[in-house]
Amino acid sequence: MGGTPTDLKLIDENGRRIDGRLPEEMRPLKIEAGVLKRADGSAYVEWGNNKVMAAVYGPRECHPRHLQNPERALVQCHYNMASFSVDDRKRPGPDRRSHEISKIISEALTNVVFTEYFPRTSIDVYIEVLQANAGTRCAGLTAASVALADAGVPMRDLVASCAAGKVADTVVVDLNKEEDNFGNADIPVGYVPRTGEIVLLQMDGDLSQEQFEKGLGMAVEACKKVSVLQRDALKRRYAAKADEGAEPTEIREGA
Ligand code: CDP
Repeated sequence: MGGTPTDLKLIDENGRRIDGRLPEEMRPLKIEAGVLKRADGSAYVEWGNNKVMAAVYGPRECHPRHLQNPERALVQCHYNMASFSVDDRKRPGPDRRSHEISKIISEALTNVVFTEYFPRTSIDVYIEVLQANAGTRCAGLTAASVALADAGVPMRDLVASCAAGKVADTVVVDLNKEEDNFGNADIPVGYVPRTGEIVLLQMDGDLSQEQFEKGLGMAVEACKKVSVLQRDALKRRYAAKADEGAEPTEIREGA
């Protein structure tokens, strides 16, 4: 947000953005499921210049115990940015921003997980941002949904996420870092394609009602594309698992 440097043209005379995209065009998105051996489920997402890893543990006994809910599981997301993920070294450890993002992602995922199947447990979702270029909460939520499915956690649907925003008075999707810094608004959206529900919606900046509605519609369309790639990643994962056949027995020396 803030003033645009005079030499930075966010939208050119052909209506293209600084990285050559059209307003409704997302950055390239690659999703891979099941990338970590130790976690119950995992996913890795490269989205433009964002690189994000998600790992899921659980359902498992909920700690601290006073958070246990006798009727349902608690979905606890822990979002973290590596100190080397941004231009200026990020001070390691939690801060206000990471708490906020962890909370909104936990809430978005709680809407789709059948938490009532696993009373008293916790489903822990760890999101590690290795490289950030704006839109990491959307990339994190997208990766976390795939990681939950990879862990076999029963869900109504995957949550797909993408932001819309406004740059140089034009409504666009999936803002990159320059657009996020010098644009006028950012609306991250989490969408459940099966039900049409919106489970994450935030807004930062200035938009007219008409621009907001246009942006929301564009973000939802982008989320539908994200959802297709999430499913493809899981299908590839299961095809690979089927090819491997039964898990090989581990042979230990001296056993
Ligand atoms: O990443 P997201 O757009 O969901 O959240 P944000 O708070 O709007 O941050 C936008 C971008 O600012 C991040 O993706 C990072 O590239 C950058 N950032 C940073 O450089 N240093 C921080 N401490 C936090 C964010």
